[in-house]
Amino acid sequence: MSKKIFSGVQPTGNLHLGNYLGAIKNFVELNNNDANQCIFCVVDLHAITVKQDPKELKKNIRETVATFVASGIDPNKSIIFNQSGVAAHSEGAWILSCVARMGWLNRMTQFKEKAGKDKEKASIGLYSYPVLMAADILLYDATHVPVGDDQKQHLELCRDIAQKFNNDFDVEDFLKAPEPLIQKEFSRIMSLKDGSNKMSKSELSDLSRINLTDDKDQIINKIKKAKTDPLPMPKDIKELEGRLEAQNLLGIFASLSNSTLESSIEKFAGKNFSDFKQELSKLLVNKIMPISEEIKKLLKDQSYLDSILLDGVEKANKIASKKIKKIKEIVGF
Ligand code: TYM
Repeated sequence: MSKKIFSGVQPTGNLHLGNYLGAIKNFVELNNNDANQCIFCVVDLHAITVKQDPKELKKNIRETVATFVASGIDPNKSIIFNQSGVAAHSEGAWILSCVARMGWLNRMTQFKEKAGKDKEKASIGLYSYPVLMAADILLYDATHVPVGDDQKQHLELCRDIAQKFNNDFDVEDFLKAPEPLIQKEFSRIMSLKDGSNKMSKSELSDLSRINLTDDKDQIINKIKKAKTDPLPMPKDIKELEGRLEAQNLLGIFASLSNSTLESSIEKFAGKNFSDFKQELSKLLVNKIMPISEEIKKLLKDQSYLDSILLDGVEKANKIASKKIKKIKEIVGF
């Protein structure tokens, strides 16, 4: 069966190894399967839920497109576009926000994390952000949504919103509840400095993450400084229990080398962390450097990147404007 794939990435700069292994690597595989119809969105409306410098935002939108293309997404096969270019996303988000319930949004853990202690000062957009995400997905009748583990709760909300809309307006199966595509393993890459925190662009220390634009020396240095523990490398999965940093680094190795955690443990059993780190750096440099160099090359050709977005916006608009028209009719406008 042909899959309709939709996913989004925020253009907030510093796309990192977590974004790559949790999401973009998967986008590339889905793009490469001719049976799929893929749409990848640069979610600039989501980005402004926290304060952005307009010049930086513009630069980061192009950098996100460059990252998609440099990672292997073919703009001639998949639609790549920016969310603000298709008005149906904002319109859909408003209508769906009248369907979604406060109680549902109050459960969203990402809002609690992002808003921090001072919730009163968070933007309303940050709070209702998962509703916009639901509109993104539902406008395209997406059947599958590839994301990292941190977006699971938002996808469950999207399914609830779709179901309530269909019930409220008595339109069975009109909005299609999508299936999440979350990898079983390695769907949550952790900080290099603290194995209990997600690798994230908002963490202050740059040493906590490998950016997709890092150069060879930065990658080697970050892995050298990555937190480990005083024990030798584990001999089996059992010995890895509770050792969050070792688990994360071995997970990164396994994911990048397309192998299993078990076989990666076996490969380094009984060795020192420093031997393992050398091998991990080598693998990272081999995988990330070509992407990093290609991003830098693509960024020099802004008109090419802009033309990808223009073309993508046109194609996305064709699909989304039809769906929003029907949504408006159903609602009674
Ligand atoms: P964003 O921009 O925070 O992240 C983009 C993708 O990267 C994944 N990710 C990770 N995966 C594993 N380990 C990590 N440390 C890690 N950090 C980030 C995220 O799970 C995501 O898949 N709300 C979304 C963007 C969005 C979207 C959508 C996604 C907007 N509309 C519609 C799917 C469908 C977000 O902020 O992702």
